[in-house]
Amino acid sequence: MKDSSSEHEFAIIPTIVSGNQETVVIQFLKTASKLVKQAITLEEIQEVWQKINALEALSKKFRLSKEVQLDATELRIRLERRLGEILSKKKQDREENIKEQLDKLSLVSDNFKNVQQNHHRFTKNELSKFQRLASTSHEVFEAVLTDLRTEAAINSQTALSTTGILRAIRNEQKKNSEPLFSPIIKPSDNWNFSTVKYGRIDEKFGEYRGYIPGEIYANCFWYYVKPGDLVVAPMAGSGQVWRVYEARQEWMGQHIYDFQLEMFDLTPRGKYKDLITPHDLTKNFPVENPDYIVIDIPYYGMVNQQYSDKPEDLANMTLEDWQVAIAAIAKNCALAQKTGTLCTIISPNYREVANGLIVIVTDIIRYSWESAGYILHDKAYSSRRIQQHQTPQMARMNNHAKANRIMLTDITEILTFRRV
Ligand SMILES: C[S@@+](CC[C@H](N)C(=O)[O-])C[C@H]1O[C@@H](n2cnc3c(N)ncnc32)[C@H](O)[C@@H]1O
Repeated sequence: MKDSSSEHEFAIIPTIVSGNQETVVIQFLKTASKLVKQAITLEEIQEVWQKINALEALSKKFRLSKEVQLDATELRIRLERRLGEILSKKKQDREENIKEQLDKLSLVSDNFKNVQQNHHRFTKNELSKFQRLASTSHEVFEAVLTDLRTEAAINSQTALSTTGILRAIRNEQKKNSEPLFSPIIKPSDNWNFSTVKYGRIDEKFGEYRGYIPGEIYANCFWYYVKPGDLVVAPMAGSGQVWRVYEARQEWMGQHIYDFQLEMFDLTPRGKYKDLITPHDLTKNFPVENPDYIVIDIPYYGMVNQQYSDKPEDLANMTLEDWQVAIAAIAKNCALAQKTGTLCTIISPNYREVANGLIVIVTDIIRYSWESAGYILHDKAYSSRRIQQHQTPQMARMNNHAKANRIMLTDITEILTFRRV
């Protein structure tokens, strides 16, 4: 790669720095960048590296503009990556013993006595850094280099450096090694959660009757809510929905976005009580134009007197009254929502093992919402995990169910309707 003209130009650096230093250094940097392209062998690259290193030191010593300083540093780092590539390749090919090669790498340049020591030998540490630069993909290297250079240009506290680049690359790789999506978000319509992270939040720990795992809300939000949407939970109870919303960083991860959540309930309770407005949903819908409604409805027949002793509490109604109330709620949702918006109702079916009563509650819900002006848009299923704890009592219930030929109810349906 011998280029005697450019070597000659470099030879005069120390003498010209007193003149129009910046213009001259820029000129030398241009020559250096040509040399970077031409250098092929390790020795040639190291020679160019030393020249660029000298220019970098000069640009700092004579306080040339930040841009010129950064040009020099960037050129040096690019060359270091090249050097790393060659070293790695040689290692792979086993063409030569790296150590021997590296020992040969000592650079002599009489032209830079004023600004740096002669016979620079790359340390093992430096060479390992160059190889790490080389092992980074082109895209990541270029992105990180651009970011750090821009930051160094606008912030006098930060400098562009090989170590800084490697640190940023490490952070970038760490970010990329995080799973793309949380395991809480289910990839299919089977929303089963073997371990529940967002379990019941009021005082009765371990008691899940009438309480869906918060993970169901997370999946509803993920699949049905867009950034900025107005979301309403009109049967928010003790506010599980709020806890899940607040913790959305955990299950949205890198894809986090905000939306507006409003909560209502006939009998607000628990630690989020103050955030939940008392409201009877059979009367009317409390908010206009919600983009999305999610209702964890009181399971017919399963949670009698659990939330309150009020007659307007759906949990306390006879089947006939419950059906009328459900139809009224569907109408109220339809009156509040615009065409194309979604409304999710969460409910299991009902079976009574003792007397053989079977109520396909989810069909009543579907009929009510379709009659009110919706069509069924989507459906998912989640286990209530009733078999999770095989206690003697569970064994008795199982035997009872089998003997009476009535299945126990385990599946919760997540029915999502679209307003037409
Ligand atoms: C299955 S629970 C919802 C529990 C909720 N997921 C939580 O985090 O606590 C059903 C809720 O519906 C409420 N509810 C019952 N009848 C209602 C009515 N007429 N209007 C509004 N809410 C009602 C109950 O108070 C209860 O909190």
